[in-house]
Amino acid sequence: MLIKNICCIGAGYVGGPTMAVIAKNNPHLKITIVDINQDRIDAWNNDDLSKLPIYEPGLADIIKETRGKNLFFSTDIDQAIDASEMIFISVNTPTKTYGKGKGMAADLKYIELCARHIAEVAKTDKIVVEKSTLPVRTAEAIKSILHNTGNNINFHILSNPEFLAEGTAIEDLLNPDRVLIGGESEEAIEALANVYSSWVNDDKILRTNLWSSELSKLTANAFLAQRISSINSISELCELTGANVNEVAKAIGMDSRIGSKFLKASVGFGGSCFQKDILNLVYIARSYNLNEVADYWEQVIIMNDHQKRRFSDRLIKTLYNTVSGKKIALLGWAFKKDTNDTRESAAIYVADHLLNEQANISVFDPKVPHAKVQTDLNYLNTRTEAENEAGVISVDSPYEATKEAHAIAIMTEWDEFKGYDWHKIYANMKKPAFIFDGRNILDKTNMEHIGFEYYSIGQ
Ligand code: NAD
Ligand code: UDX
Repeated sequence: MLIKNICCIGAGYVGGPTMAVIAKNNPHLKITIVDINQDRIDAWNNDDLSKLPIYEPGLADIIKETRGKNLFFSTDIDQAIDASEMIFISVNTPTKTYGKGKGMAADLKYIELCARHIAEVAKTDKIVVEKSTLPVRTAEAIKSILHNTGNNINFHILSNPEFLAEGTAIEDLLNPDRVLIGGESEEAIEALANVYSSWVNDDKILRTNLWSSELSKLTANAFLAQRISSINSISELCELTGANVNEVAKAIGMDSRIGSKFLKASVGFGGSCFQKDILNLVYIARSYNLNEVADYWEQVIIMNDHQKRRFSDRLIKTLYNTVSGKKIALLGWAFKKDTNDTRESAAIYVADHLLNEQANISVFDPKVPHAKVQTDLNYLNTRTEAENEAGVISVDSPYEATKEAHAIAIMTEWDEFKGYDWHKIYANMKKPAFIFDGRNILDKTNMEHIGFEYYSIGQ
């Protein structure tokens, strides 16, 4: 199958960077990323590269190199589907907020819309690639929609889940641990493998059946998140016993069977994937009546919720059991460093809890727009928009955020936080000046030397 034109439906955190890297490494291919969101497409087409809709280190350089040459952003979805031999579906698959499976299952309505759109528009044979993270056996539904068009067009469905992590997306895409392709047609699998082989060694391109590929993505995220919940569970025990979770993580991580990565204790994992994908896995297991399997994985989420709650409870308790009317500075709102993404960020839940206790919150994040902080809180529906606005302000400097504050909570591990003038911050805070380091990024001895009452996770 000769591939010359590729279309990607969904210009988000996955579609944008992934197609940019494919375009960079395949100058002979024309790649069009389409989306129903006009603002997002306009932002991708903005001449000012600092206004791209997504912040990822290294992304702007690749967009500069490829955009308008072999990478295009458009809202003309019909045209792009029609012109392409290969179509990636990279739309969002959030947790359902209504009906059966509410709060657990993945909402596949956007996926189905894409499949129907392709079925409606296609006039020639297509390879359809699932790039979104999907429940195992979704390809069956897509196949059924595409194969019932009655217009004699051949569709081949492939599963090609994405393993990039935000903040390191470009690096992950350029040097992937593996590329996973699941499918039934060897010819289609090889057509997609060819796209990757322009920069990925063949021994890293794994070919499997459709269902293994779909399930591997959910499983990978579940295993990764499980490590964080495991170390976070130990962090609580450390705080009561005098053990230090950093030392424990190092000691166990040196066992080559365990490995050292993904053992950083924190205020709890966030991001658009871990919670959604584990809930989805739990839902699938329950739908097959595998209750022990479901309970096992659900515990990863229960532990994560506990860790977020425990963090804010500890803050409140240390501040003499009340934060009412007190200024609490949150440094960081993004769910991790080097991204402007805030989906499921622990900061949102900690802020929500502190607002229930009538705290006045001041937020500083180097990349998150002020309006996003309010949108995230309003989305929880805990209180009115006016109440959120009254309780939380976002500011442009860490010094302003922390001025006259009773306590600082570090929510994101931004590197720049370590280099601040902590003497100056201390001088301008109410005393005693408390720091709750939800990321263990500051040096305890230094902070205590300056005069702070310093609390971290698992120490
Ligand atoms: P996103 O919300 O950033 O982007 C999805 C885009 O799809 C949006 O811009 C939306 O407007 C668009 N869209 C929705 N329905 C559409 C339709 N019918 N036609 C055209 N456009 C449509 O989401 P994301 O973070 O890029 O995630 C996409 C998928 O990739 C999800 O399934 C996610 O689980 C998976 N994934 C995400 C990550 C990550 O780090 N964000 C990593 C691996 C996999
Ligand atoms: C994750 C997976 O890593 C990636 O492979 C998948 O494609 C998408 O989901 P992402 O959510 O973007 O990526 O970031 P990740 O680095 O996994 O971090 C997720 C959350 O876990 C963040 O809130 C992060 O701060 C937290 N985390 C990570 C920890 O608390 N401790 C760790 O040791 C690692």
